[in-house]
Amino acid sequence: MNYHKVQFLTSYGRADQLPPSEKPGGVFAGRSNVGKSSLINRLFQQKGLARVSATPGKTATINFFGTQSLIFADLPGYGYAKVSRGEKLRWAALMEGYFAQDRDIALVLSLMDSRHPPSREDLGMLDFLVDQELPFVVVLTKIDKLSPRQRQERLEAFRRELPFGEELTLLPFSAETGEGREALCEIIDQLEEDILREAAEEGA
Ligand code: GTP
Ligand code: MG
Repeated sequence: MNYHKVQFLTSYGRADQLPPSEKPGGVFAGRSNVGKSSLINRLFQQKGLARVSATPGKTATINFFGTQSLIFADLPGYGYAKVSRGEKLRWAALMEGYFAQDRDIALVLSLMDSRHPPSREDLGMLDFLVDQELPFVVVLTKIDKLSPRQRQERLEAFRRELPFGEELTLLPFSAETGEGREALCEIIDQLEEDILREAAEEGA
C-alpha cells in the first residue's frame, strides 16, 4: 500500500453524523494518551496527519483517514478520568454508534501501553472484540520507554494478563523510533490484498 497517499478524510463528533460504511478498513482503539494518533503519523509517515498531544483526551472525535481502497478510523481514547460525565456519555454513544452500524471492519488495532498491565477498559475492549468476533491485533505502544529487560518482562506479563494471551498477536511498537512499523505494514498490506481480492471475486 502506498502509505504516503493516505489522507485525512473527515471527523465526526456524534454517532448520528456517521455515514454508513462504504469501504472496508482498520480501526485504532485504545485508552486516551496511549499513542493512537502518534502511531497513525508514524505508520503513514506524515507528521501532522493526526493531532498528537501530551494532554490526554486530545482526540474527541472519530477521525477517518484513507486511500482508494481502505479506510482507517482513529477513535477517541477511552478511560480518561478527568472528562465530565456528559463528555463520557457522548463518547460512549459515539463508540456504540460506530460499532453498531454495519461497518466493514477488517481489523481492529487495539493499542495498549506496553509499560503497564492492561486497564479495566482495555480488558473490556478485548472482551467486546472477542464477543463481536472482530479480527484484532494488540499493539503495545511506547516500547522505547522500556529497557530490554523490562520489555521482556512486560511481554511475558501481557501473555498472562490478557485473556487468550498465549494466542494473541502482540506487536511491540514505538512511534518514537519506528520499531514495529514494518510488522504493522505487513499486516495492513495483507489486509489490503485480501480486500482487493474479495472485491475482484465479487465483481467477477
Ligand atoms: P488521545 O487522542 O487523547 O486519545 O491520545 P492518543 O492515544 O492519540 O495519544 P497521542 O498519540 O496523542 O500521544 C500521547 C502522548 O504520548 C504524546 O505526548 C506522544 O508524544 C507520546 N507518545 C506516543 N507514542 C509514543 C511512543 O511510541 N514513544 C514515546 N516515547 N512517546 C509516545
Ligand atoms: Mg489521539
